[in-house]
Amino acid sequence: MKKYILSFSLLFATVLQVFAEEGMLIPSLIAAFESDMKAKGMKLSAKDIYDVNNSSLKDAIMHFGGGCTAELVSGKGLLLTNHHCGYSQVQSHSSLEKDYLKNGFWAKNFAEELPNAGLTASRMVRIDDVTASVMFGVKSTDNSLVRDAAIRKNVEQLIKDATTGTHYEAEIKPFNYGNDYYIIVKEVFKDVRLVGTPPNSIGKFGGDTDNWVWPRHTGDFSVFRIYAGVDNKPAAFSDKNVPYTPIHFLPISFQNRKPGDFTMVYGFPGETEQHVVSGYLKFIIEKQRPAQIKMREKSLSVIDAAMRASDEVRIKYSAKQASIANAYKKWIGQIDGLKRLDAVSIKVSRENEYNTMASTKPEWSKMYGQAIELMNKLNDEGNQWEFKYNMAIEYLYVGPELYKLARGLKDLIKNHDRLVEKGELNTTIDKLIKGADGFFKNYDSKVDQQIFELLTEEYLKQTQPANSSGEMYKYNVGDLSKVIYSKSILTNKERYVAFLKGFKKKSIAKLKKDTGYKLYDVFATDFTDNTLSKYQAFDDQMTALLKNYVAGKYEMFPNAKHWSDANSTLRITYGQLEGSSPADGMMYTEHTTLDGIIAKYNTGNPDFELLPRMLEMHKNKDYGDYAQNGELWVCFTGSNHTTGGNSGSPVIDAKGNLMGLNFDRTWESTMSDYMFDPNRCRNVVVDIRYVMWVMDKYAGAKHLVDEMVLVKE
Ligand code: ARG
Ligand code: GLU
Repeated sequence: MKKYILSFSLLFATVLQVFAEEGMLIPSLIAAFESDMKAKGMKLSAKDIYDVNNSSLKDAIMHFGGGCTAELVSGKGLLLTNHHCGYSQVQSHSSLEKDYLKNGFWAKNFAEELPNAGLTASRMVRIDDVTASVMFGVKSTDNSLVRDAAIRKNVEQLIKDATTGTHYEAEIKPFNYGNDYYIIVKEVFKDVRLVGTPPNSIGKFGGDTDNWVWPRHTGDFSVFRIYAGVDNKPAAFSDKNVPYTPIHFLPISFQNRKPGDFTMVYGFPGETEQHVVSGYLKFIIEKQRPAQIKMREKSLSVIDAAMRASDEVRIKYSAKQASIANAYKKWIGQIDGLKRLDAVSIKVSRENEYNTMASTKPEWSKMYGQAIELMNKLNDEGNQWEFKYNMAIEYLYVGPELYKLARGLKDLIKNHDRLVEKGELNTTIDKLIKGADGFFKNYDSKVDQQIFELLTEEYLKQTQPANSSGEMYKYNVGDLSKVIYSKSILTNKERYVAFLKGFKKKSIAKLKKDTGYKLYDVFATDFTDNTLSKYQAFDDQMTALLKNYVAGKYEMFPNAKHWSDANSTLRITYGQLEGSSPADGMMYTEHTTLDGIIAKYNTGNPDFELLPRMLEMHKNKDYGDYAQNGELWVCFTGSNHTTGGNSGSPVIDAKGNLMGLNFDRTWESTMSDYMFDPNRCRNVVVDIRYVMWVMDKYAGAKHLVDEMVLVKE
């Protein structure tokens, strides 16, 4: 542990030479890292990676559906992402008769590719620092209202200037808590079709048992295709659309690999929080995460059992289960890792360094001398609101699902008069009725009832203020549950649809008497009236303090490697193909093979089930050109700093070719959202050669492999 308690300045100074893996870099600034990347083996120039006027790697990287990354791999718009990123699309095309989850799906030609309403893929056209323009005319003496208004006006103008006369969209995002602003101009494709997916027994092999864990054997990929209008520009779905011709697509790195090979991940990491103050980190570790974990543990106990008992429930709940389980398990790894790293003590010692540095100059002392103290004080007073906020998210948004319908109805009656005035009431009601099909297709009221009972108890327990005798805390959950799940319109499709079909003004009074709706209203009102604004104020104040604190880091430690926290914009991170030593006495090798899949099979755990075809394929050892020294690599790890949102990101070799798809981190590295440890933090990648083997040999979709360009060196 000792070696982490380095002095702050020393730690940052050494970071650059020794552990270049930390950091998620902004593509337009990558030239500053070119020489370091070359020293690590990269053969590309900064302009090959990011260029606005010529094609570059960035043109092959797509933000997939807003939450994942995908990459173009053929001249016909073929797109690869993770299996878990395309999971809800695959699920929506699945039924008991067409069980694509279980058996996989492969379109044999363009005509069989399946459209996905609402799914988008966006290419970043350019990203530019616009801090000076955003702050134009803003005076340091302005109060926050005047300031915000001026910023808003500037932002509007900049977006207008960037998009007028183009088919582009643009947004301006704060970086470093508002010390910097960047404009991101993008091209949003709206016709993205499903081309293929392996069965769950490949794409989700290892399931939740292996999720976030190394050694890993998951073929976590699915295949889509971008369609565009005949002018190659984004267009809404249409039969007339044609496969998109990309500006750049990634050739496939089809050669042997070894530890030490340069790797670069290019994608859309969602959120990191490297700068949080020590007191807040302690709150996350000791209070917030344990409570969130407990809520999810309860939901999962119900869902997992029900899915095991019934195929119908398995299909209905598979996507919901995956999303609840994913953060649940990550959080457990995260607090475990932060504790083992003694992250709070490291933070405190870095904070001491910061304070010491601030005391060396009067102007620093004035600007930054109190930064940390103020953040810790604000945290002590305000984190209770963040806690309540997150508990309400767990309960009202992740928990029992009747609340989803309640939210829609609450909006309906809130906007009732306005909708009538505009003549839109009936279309709004029709939309809700249509939505009911999708909702109840994946709903089981018995499952929901059990979740309701467990989570309502827990939510009330977690959020009850000391000595409170508030009405909410007097509920008898068992009694409520009986009434709600036998009578409420929110828990049964016939009742819900009948209510909407017969909707008249006086239905509002009837709705307000519905026990399920009434309960939602009490909780939701408590949330908006008592929690939301206080949480937002806490968050805003903390952001303002962080802004100043981070400015101090840049100013007082100019030689340190600084990088802006992830914020769902395109970033680059680099490292190498590398195993790790996760704990004393343990080594993780850097890759896994098909033999390992077979070894995990037949252990009685349904997460490792295989279809007979895989056993047959393994017996025949028909690996074609996809093997390396007789072994078929399945996954490998790299020392690249990634986070949620990097799923589906291409892992790119020294020459710009695709080595594999990022899909996870090891459990020991999930703490890297708060603190990166170069010894342990590894991203998990499915090898592109396994992906192609599955397409070609396993699934008989060789025509897709034939679309790609293989680089054998
Ligand atoms: N842990 C990965 C990520 O954060 C993969 C999740 C999907 N897999 C699963 N078994 N739930 O998204
Ligand atoms: N599976 C994650 C995702 O969906 C990536 C893993 C991580 O958090 O690093 O983005």
